[in-house]
Amino acid sequence: MARIIAGVAASHIPAVGAAWDNGKADEPYWRPVFKGFERSKEWIARVKPDVCIVVYNDHMSAFSLEIVPTFAIGCAAEFPIADEGWGPRPVPAVKGYPELASHIVQSVVLDEFDLTIVNRMEVDHGLTVPLTLMFGKPKEWPCPIVPIAVNVVVYPVPTGNRCYMLGKAIRRAVESFDKDLRIVIFGTGGMSHQLQGPRAGLINREFDTRFLDNLAPDPEALVRISHLEYLREAGSEAIELVMWLIMRGALDDRVKEIHRFYHVPASNTALGHIIFENMA
Ligand code: DHB
Ligand code: FE
Repeated sequence: MARIIAGVAASHIPAVGAAWDNGKADEPYWRPVFKGFERSKEWIARVKPDVCIVVYNDHMSAFSLEIVPTFAIGCAAEFPIADEGWGPRPVPAVKGYPELASHIVQSVVLDEFDLTIVNRMEVDHGLTVPLTLMFGKPKEWPCPIVPIAVNVVVYPVPTGNRCYMLGKAIRRAVESFDKDLRIVIFGTGGMSHQLQGPRAGLINREFDTRFLDNLAPDPEALVRISHLEYLREAGSEAIELVMWLIMRGALDDRVKEIHRFYHVPASNTALGHIIFENMA
């Protein structure tokens, strides 16, 4: 049986990827950011997942206003790196796991949770920046990736509770896959940030800290945060945090916090990161 053994949440700030790609990781501005992931890299090198399920959002790279799936899953064998305006990031293409992804679709849809099947998709910073933060600069990513894309860009976006329930459905799907696989699930994006308008650069450290504090012991409190509350308290793009709730929903009720990191500012946003392991 396949099992989800751990969850990783991490912001996916594009400037962090650009700093890494352009050899700036050791500059004084960026050094603390990458230092916060040193333990994470050691942890994941030790854990050696067979597969990572990466819940992220596309930023109008693979999709556009023509088609906006609420939840989509990449079933392809390979996902090319998107060109977001400066050429594709110089990172390896992402290898998928079509057999597992197709199994997840079948299980989750029959579980009354609709996922859009995507057989051709480029992946952007939402997915690649957390891979860089966790795995550094390998020739190839160390394991296949199943991308799950969530619409948090065009209203209406799914509720935190819907995301949390999807996480539980993904877990049931994984556990009915007949191969011994140890899987780590990622939730990306967040924390507080607002990229445009008069409130651009808004950071709410208190909101972020409460979110990090509650994620392990009381996710049920977090699933009740309304869209308006995310927007008001933590900025328009903080809504990306609903993707962390998919990760959390896929884990045990009781989890162990392995590592946490919070840093302000990175670009003009707050960077948050946390790792949980299932107790079993
Ligand atoms: C930025 C973009 C993002 O998608 C994000 O999650 C955080 C920051 C940015 O453009 O700075
Ligand atoms: Fe984003």
